[in-house]
Amino acid sequence: MSTLGVAIIGCGGIALQNHLPGLAICPDTKVVALCDANAAVLAQAQSQTGLAAASTDYREIVGRDDVQAVIIATPNVTHAPIALAAIAHGKHVLCEKPIAMSAAEARSMAAAADKAGVRHMTAYTYRFVPAMRYLAHLVKRGDLGVPYHFRSCRLQDWGARDIGWRQEKKLAGSGELGDMLSHRVDFAHLLYGDFKRIVAGMKRFIDDRHGHASDLEDWVTIMADFDNGATGVLESSKLATGHNESWRSLDHVEMNGSEASFVFSTGKWNEIHIGKPGGAGLEKMIIPKEFFVWPGSPRDAAAGNPLITFRYDQNYEFIEAIRDQRPCRPSFHDGCRSQTVMDAAYESTATGQWVNLKY
Ligand SMILES: NC(=O)c1ccc[n+]([C@@H]2O[C@H](COP(=O)([O-])OP(=O)(O)OC[C@H]3O[C@@H](n4cnc5c(N)ncnc54)[C@H](O)[C@@H]3O)[C@@H](O)[C@H]2O)c1
Repeated sequence: MSTLGVAIIGCGGIALQNHLPGLAICPDTKVVALCDANAAVLAQAQSQTGLAAASTDYREIVGRDDVQAVIIATPNVTHAPIALAAIAHGKHVLCEKPIAMSAAEARSMAAAADKAGVRHMTAYTYRFVPAMRYLAHLVKRGDLGVPYHFRSCRLQDWGARDIGWRQEKKLAGSGELGDMLSHRVDFAHLLYGDFKRIVAGMKRFIDDRHGHASDLEDWVTIMADFDNGATGVLESSKLATGHNESWRSLDHVEMNGSEASFVFSTGKWNEIHIGKPGGAGLEKMIIPKEFFVWPGSPRDAAAGNPLITFRYDQNYEFIEAIRDQRPCRPSFHDGCRSQTVMDAAYESTATGQWVNLKY
């Protein structure tokens, strides 16, 4: 098996926390080049990795012969131009979410990647949480019965601090919707399939985050009907005071059907709660061991912090799809689907009306 060369474009938080260690578990895979527009961040990443091949200009990286695949971990506005440049050079692309600024832009990326015959993946990382994978297995098997409800509640306390490019529409495209709720929209697609129609609301409470103007929402909610007949309620906030952040904060996903209720929480990587008709309440269940790692992944489920290490399976899936010449799960098409719901959420917020989904 020949060694696969990967370039990382954008060497900020997520690249160093998720993608570098994730690529390290992939067999015969080597990070060969780095790019960051900020020279100081690039120099820091170079000293961490010992890599000489580096540039502040992604165009110098995507054309390199030793690069077969790129990981795009930059602010959202740059995803499409970087992805399209990489695809034009025949490179496989794993792009951070949300992959684009709009559904139309996302579709142009998916179309270009399909036409070029390269592998494409959207970093919907929480699909790789073992408990989420087990839940998807139960739903697919029909254990829920007739699906009644989908519920997602993501509550964090980010307060009024400056959150950089994430609070500027021209750089991020959307606020809490793309940053946090897009993952949960993807859960809904994974578990229940297409949305039929939605009505949404958004609100910005903080216009100025420590001297840096914000023009994006801090809170978003979506009410939905799904094609499968179920209803959905999704809410996400950066201003749930006292709720903490990241996996230490509330991330509740619940499904109710005629035969069962299932509850998942990102902070509980290997457990779900199950309710049965007439039961006295929900009961905790540890998921079967075979779901602890992604099929085939060499990751040791007992090594490291499991709330971080499940993310490495995402990189494994990307590399394996390249080697197997098959679509990645989730692909750019999944990124397009969420982006379609996001566009509809903005439309609904602007008009105050329900919006029928056209994927
Ligand atoms: N999948 C997940 O769970 C998850 C988690 C966090 C972030 N993200 C996504 O990852 C992306 C990056 O987020 P982050 O938290 O790492 O941000 P960050 O600000 O920490 O890092 C982004 C880096 O990109 C660099 N950059 C900006 N423009 C560039 C360009 N044109 N070319 C090269 N480098 C450029 C910046 O200098 C910065 O170092 C975003 O799309 C975000 O939504 C996803």
